[in-house]
Order: sequence, then structure tokens, then C-alpha cells
Amino acid sequence: MEKIKSIILSTPVLGIVARIIYQAAKRLPVIVPFKATYAEDALITNKNISSLFEPDFLNAYQKAVDDGLYVDAAIRWRCHVACWAGSVAIKNKGDFVECGVNKGFISRIVMDYLKFEAREDIKFWLLDTYEGFSEKYLTEEEISVLKQSFQKDNLDASWKMGQYKPVFDIALKAFSKFPNARLIKGIVPETLSLVESDKISYLSLDMNCVIPEIEAISYFWDKLVPGAIVLLDDYAWPSHEAQKNGMDKFASSKGVGILTLPTGQGLIIKN
Ligand SMILES: C[S@@+](CC[C@H](N)C(=O)[O-])C[C@H]1O[C@@H](n2cnc3c(N)ncnc32)[C@H](O)[C@@H]1O
Repeated sequence: MEKIKSIILSTPVLGIVARIIYQAAKRLPVIVPFKATYAEDALITNKNISSLFEPDFLNAYQKAVDDGLYVDAAIRWRCHVACWAGSVAIKNKGDFVECGVNKGFISRIVMDYLKFEAREDIKFWLLDTYEGFSEKYLTEEEISVLKQSFQKDNLDASWKMGQYKPVFDIALKAFSKFPNARLIKGIVPETLSLVESDKISYLSLDMNCVIPEIEAISYFWDKLVPGAIVLLDDYAWPSHEAQKNGMDKFASSKGVGILTLPTGQGLIIKN
């Protein structure tokens, strides 16, 4: 092999051609076959997703699907993140809060996963109008987008409902086995003071509009215990730039960073 190499390299023309081929080959990308392991919720990847098949997680997820609690039933990675955040937060001994609950999909999965019913020392506060947006706390742009999609889809409900329906009874049923679940029906930020807690370790914001979310994080910030987790469901999604900009500004005023997750969620740890 060495002999052939030295003959080629010592022959001027062959040597030049061999060097060109060698240099070009070095620049070629290494082609690894892409085999998707996860392709839902606008996310496709070939990474190891065995955590998404952990039995406690799968059971909690499947129960919520079977009970029809979803807005979108194919968001396993987002729910996995929420369960992980909950499992970290629960060690910090504070209450849990979600603003933007709808029928309770994500929160019920987190509660089942953590066996929340056995935690008499902490509560899960669940805030929503349970009937869509409040015009009073929407920006002009959000109103215009909602009205456009209302006309486009020719929905028979009010544009303020967005894609939502009145769901309070469904949510009450979804959380009925949890003596420590507290559902607060009404408009955020007007209902924030009804959360009777000054120690919060998990805050999930999922209202799909900027003003109530900024009001909520501002209200709860000083009540978050050290190590508390804030999970922002809409943070890096397209068409939610106002929420991202608002949260970035808030986080920077508090000297914290927001981790952007490929699921579109944002994650803050308060220290
Ligand atoms: C994307 S959904 C929440 C989905 C939920 N996290 C889940 O796991 O299925 C957004 C919710 O925010 C609620 N919402 C929007 N604006 C609100 C406001 N100002 N106050 C209270 N709830 C609001 C809507 O009623 C809706 O149920």
C-alpha cells in the first residue's frame, strides 16, 4: 500500500489528481442515516427518547388522553418537560400554580405523575377563565389575530373563545380525585390574589397572550422559593413573539436567563 502511495505521489500528474481527490473527500459530509424517533408537535429528532416511555409518565399521559383532557393530544415531549420540572419543584416544598389550564391536560399529567394527591402539605392552584380569553387583557395585535382566525374558520362561538370552549365542569372532574387541587375560575390578573400561598415552587404559564402572563410572573416572582421553576409553554413558538419579548424583558430585569427548549417551551430557575 505504502509502495503504491509513493509511486502515485512521485508521478507528477497522478500525484496532483490524488491530492485533489483526497482534499475533496475530506470535505464531504459524513452521512449518517437519519431515523426519526420522535415526530410530533412540530418537532422531529433522532435522539434517544426512552424517558418518554417511562411507565409512570406513560400511564399519566395516557389517562389524560383517555379522559379527553387535551387541546392537542400529541405533546408528549412538552409534558415530559413539565413532569421533570414538577419532580424538581416538589422537593422545594412550595405550592404549584398553573395559569392557563383549560381542561387540565398538562397539570393533570404532572399531578398523576407526582402522585400529588398524597402531598397534603402542598396545593396545586389552577387558574383559568375556563372559557377563553379576556378582551380587556389582549393587545391590539392579539385581538386582530383572533378576529381573523374567527372569520376564517367561521366559528359560531365568540372570537374571544379562540379555539376554546367552556370547560369548567370538565376541569372540575379532571381534578376531583385531588383534595389539594384548587381551581380558580376567572380572569388573570384579577384572580391572582386568590392564590393563598406565599411559597410557590412551580409556576406554569400557558395563556397564549402576553399581558396576563407578564402580570402573573410579576405577581408570583417574590413568592417563588429558591430553586423554583417557571415553565413558559408558548415561549419560542412562532406567532408568540410578543410573549417571548415580554418574558425576555422581565427575566433580564430580574437578572435571570430563560432556557429555550426545542419543544418551544421556556424554562426559568429562580435562585
Ligand atoms: C393553551 S390553553 C391552556 C392549555 C392547558 N395548559 C393544557 O394543558 O391543555 C390557554 C388557556 O388560557 C386561558 N386564558 C387565556 N387568557 C386568560 C386570562 N386572561 N385569564 C385566565 N385564563 C386565560 C384560556 O381560557 C385557555 O383555557
